[in-house]
Amino acid sequence: MKQLTEMAISYHLIFRFFLPFLLYTSQLATACSIDPTDGFVELPFNTSFYHIQKPFDLPVDQRYSFVDGVHKLWVYSTDNPLSRNSPTMPRTEIMINGYNYSSGVWQFEGYGFVPNGTSGVCIMQVFGASPPHASTLMLRVYNGSLTYYRANVLVPNVYDRWFRVNVIHDVAASKLKVYIDGVFTFEAAGRGGNSHHFKCGVYSQIGDSYYMESRWKGIKVLKQM
Ligand SMILES: *[C@@H]1O[C@H](CO)[C@@H](O)[C@H](O)[C@H]1NC(C)=O
Ligand SMILES: *[C@@H]1O[C@H](CO)[C@@H](O)[C@H](O)[C@H]1NC(C)=O
Ligand SMILES: *[C@@H]1O[C@H](CO)[C@@H](O)[C@H](O)[C@H]1NC(C)=O
Ligand SMILES: *[C@@H]1O[C@H](CO)[C@@H](O)[C@H](O)[C@H]1NC(C)=O
Repeated sequence: MKQLTEMAISYHLIFRFFLPFLLYTSQLATACSIDPTDGFVELPFNTSFYHIQKPFDLPVDQRYSFVDGVHKLWVYSTDNPLSRNSPTMPRTEIMINGYNYSSGVWQFEGYGFVPNGTSGVCIMQVFGASPPHASTLMLRVYNGSLTYYRANVLVPNVYDRWFRVNVIHDVAASKLKVYIDGVFTFEAAGRGGNSHHFKCGVYSQIGDSYYMESRWKGIKVLKQM
C-alpha cells in the first residue's frame, strides 16, 4: 500500500513537473529552427503571374519545359538575347511579372537544381535597381559554387542536388536575406530602384559554360502583410 502511494506520487511528479518541462523544451527547439516563410502570406502563383523569357528567335519549348511540377530552363552561350536589339547575354528565365513591387517585404521561395557543368550563370535574381545597376540581387553559379554576384560564395557545391532558396527583400530597410536549405546564409544591401520582381532560370554571365541549365519547383511568392 505504501509502495503504491509512492508510485502514485512519482507519477504525479512526472506529469505535473517533468512532462510540461519536456513539452517546453521541445517547443523551444521548434522555435529555434525558424522557417523563413513564418509571418509571410503566400500569394497565388500560376501562369497568369509569370512569363518565360528566351532567345527571341526560338519557340519557348526549345529552351523550357514544365513536367511533373518541374520547370526546366536551359540556354547555350551562342544563343541570341531575349529581343533582337538587346545587348544582353542569352537567357531563359521565369520572369515573375505579375508581382512587381516598390515597397513592402517580399519573399521568393523555390527549390533549385543545377546540373554539373553549368557555370558562369545567374540562376535567380531580384530585378530592378538604381542605374547603372539592373538588379538588386543575383545568385549565380561558378564552377559549382553558389555565389552572390561574382563575389561571396554562399554554398561551395550545389551541383546535382535540390536546394531550397528563400530570398527576402525588405524594400524600406534596403536589405536582402538569403536562406539556403532553410538556413540563413547571407545578407546584402539593396541597390535602389523603384520596381522589382523575382526571376529564376539561366542568364548567362562572363565566363559562361556552353550549356547552362537550372530547374525549379515549388516556386512561391510571399509577402509580409
Ligand atoms: C491564377 O490565379 C488567379 C488568382 O487566384 C486566378 O484569378 C486566375 O484565374 C488563375 N489563372 C490561371 C491561368 O490559372
Ligand atoms: C513589371 O515590370 C516589368 C519591367 O520591369 C514590365 O515589363 C512588366 O510589364 C510589369 N508587369 C506588370 C504587370 O505591370
Ligand atoms: C562534375 O563533372 C566533372 C567531369 O565529369 C567531374 O570531374 C566532377 O567531379 C563533377 N563534380 C561533381 C560535384 O559532381
Ligand atoms: C572555373 O574553372 C575554370 C577551369 O578550371 C577556371 O578557368 C575558371 O577561372 C573558374 N572560374 C571561377 C569563377 O572560379
